[in-house]
Amino acid sequence: MLPLVIAPSILSADFARLGEEVKAVEAAGADWIHFDVMDNRFVPNLTVGPMVLQALKPWTTLPIDAHLMVEPVDALIESFAAAGADLVSIHVEATRHLDRSLRLIRQKGARAGVVLNPATPVAALDCVLDQVDLVLLMSVNPGFGGQAFLPHVLDKIADVRARIDRTGRPIRLQVDGGVAPDTIGAVVAAGADTVVAGSAIFKRPDYAAAIADLRRAAAAG
Ligand code: DX5
Ligand code: ZN
Repeated sequence: MLPLVIAPSILSADFARLGEEVKAVEAAGADWIHFDVMDNRFVPNLTVGPMVLQALKPWTTLPIDAHLMVEPVDALIESFAAAGADLVSIHVEATRHLDRSLRLIRQKGARAGVVLNPATPVAALDCVLDQVDLVLLMSVNPGFGGQAFLPHVLDKIADVRARIDRTGRPIRLQVDGGVAPDTIGAVVAAGADTVVAGSAIFKRPDYAAAIADLRRAAAAG
């Protein structure tokens, strides 16, 4: 297993002070920054675009993981890669030509992630695992922070873990939604090596304590 990566989601940060928030979670022990992009079409909410990612880039040395909840997605893949996203993840349902879109991410110099919603079958990965560096399993329906973890996703995590292991490649298995000290143990035990946490970090006054609690609970699980 790869070492655990904790990626705070900026969705729960103070948007008026994003640069400082990103700096603060880096100092608190975060591994990546998870940048949630919503378009009010693929998901019923609207956040920020590539200009904001570009503006945040000088505030952190951590990799920025752009989670694109947008459709169509191809033009934005190019913009986010150019803005400095280290990893770009796209939803299976957000493109007609998943293989083409995943190849485009790598051509533009970023690492590629594929995202499955809670109701998307794991078989959607069958023909694309060679094209990805990360699989993201949503454990809430995307659009909002602070939702409850959907427990049926634990079986999907175990299933995807086995598929990744069969490839022999170091593909990361990320889980996003409702990850907190009471759920992270089961998430990691099922085979995730990368977790997104929004409210479990940014809604607490002490980010270092929040991240330490997640690591402790992950190790205990
Ligand atoms: C949901 C986003 C998540 C979200 C996670 O659509 O993709 O990254 O911010 O927030 P929490 O950790 O609060 O569920
Ligand atoms: Zn996300």
